[in-house]
Amino acid sequence: MWIFGYGSLIWRPDFDFVERTHGYVRGWQRVFWQGSTDHRGVPGAPGRVVTLLQEPGVRCWGTAYRIEGEVRDRVLDELDHREKGGYERHEVDVWGNDDRRLIESALVYVATRDNPHFLGPEEPEAIARQILRSRGPSGPNIDYLMELERSLREDLKVDDQHVFELARLVRILSEEAK
Ligand code: BEZ
Repeated sequence: MWIFGYGSLIWRPDFDFVERTHGYVRGWQRVFWQGSTDHRGVPGAPGRVVTLLQEPGVRCWGTAYRIEGEVRDRVLDELDHREKGGYERHEVDVWGNDDRRLIESALVYVATRDNPHFLGPEEPEAIARQILRSRGPSGPNIDYLMELERSLREDLKVDDQHVFELARLVRILSEEAK
């Protein structure tokens, strides 16, 4: 079974996998629209993490992991627990650089608009300010954004205008704050 990661799973899968590949999914856009009160923020002061938005013609690059046996059961249990909190499970094909289909049906978890922590769209500068000021049990929200930017640029070597623009704004705002 394959799981497709587009957020922290790209740089920090917390499970053992037997195979990993970078690739993209079609018709989905990565957006910093999901509130986080348990990892990158706290209740009352949520941080922002990514979810996926259905958007025809768009590609979202990420990393797919093949998992087996007990690991698969544990990961599915954990992710299905999230599903009860407003994440939906989708099956997606994963494509490679040369537009070759790499994986025929990977699972991906998407935070829905009706989940209790969903924040939705906002001006990029407002999102950047929120990321800059937020922190939670997993650390500063800015680390999440910077790790995502770094892994997209350096590991996957792909472009993501939304993520790169937010990282650029956060760097400017944090310089200004000094
Ligand atoms: C991710 O990091 O790709 C992810 C994992 C679980 C739920 C949503 C996103």
